[in-house]
Amino acid sequence: MEHREATVTPLTEIHSLKAEEWEAYREIRLRSLSQDPEAFGSTFEKENAFPADFWQTRVADGARLPHAHPIVARTGDAWVGLSWGWIHPDEPTIAHLFQMWVAPEARGRGVARMLVDSVIEWARVRGAAKLLLGVTVGDTPARRLYERVGFVPDGSPIPLRPGGELLEQPMVLRLEPTDRLPRSRS
Ligand SMILES: CC(C)(COP(=O)(O)OP(=O)(O)OC[C@H]1O[C@@H](n2cnc3c(N)ncnc32)[C@H](O)[C@@H]1OP(=O)(O)O)[C@@H](O)C(=O)NCCC(=O)NCCS
Repeated sequence: MEHREATVTPLTEIHSLKAEEWEAYREIRLRSLSQDPEAFGSTFEKENAFPADFWQTRVADGARLPHAHPIVARTGDAWVGLSWGWIHPDEPTIAHLFQMWVAPEARGRGVARMLVDSVIEWARVRGAAKLLLGVTVGDTPARRLYERVGFVPDGSPIPLRPGGELLEQPMVLRLEPTDRLPRSRS
């Protein structure tokens, strides 16, 4: 009788970046900048020149600080997506979404939606009233993703990089105050 091995496709899961994962983070971040240079304000050339201790500090701070929410999507052992939530300590009601990227081989399966939903949930729990991002102007999957989630344009397009021709559209998602945790009294 013929014996067939069952193939199991691993689930894609979101997890928070840990300090010791800085090398894997560097790899996926540089891959995103190299693969999709027009999607980001930063560049591969700039970040590829950062020394190891820069990456170690970036990831250690991200893992440690409550106003940072660096997350990755993993399918089995493969890192397939990245996003980074951030709240400036001096503007605690405004959250930002940065570094959104999904590997080409994992696109169209809801990975970005999982990443965005995680940042939205984190921002709500932190008490943010709105979540901001910038997306390169154009009819792109990124723009459609954010519109689908409920982001709307927030002002006029601005240069993606100083002196460059690409523009980015600021977008905002207003967060429901009823979903926020009560603030502690001081
Ligand atoms: C934008 C990007 C993150 C989307 O990742 P993804 O995992 O393929 O997106 P998802 O599968 O989660 O799709 C979520 C929603 O986005 C929209 N979307 C994503 N890709 C799309 C595509 N190719 N065509 C049309 N809509 C698309 C859909 O509306 C989808 O909603 P649905 O599930 O109701 O159909 C990915 O294409 C990417 O990394 N692009 C390059 C980098 C980039 O632009 N980053 C954004 C920086 S601001």
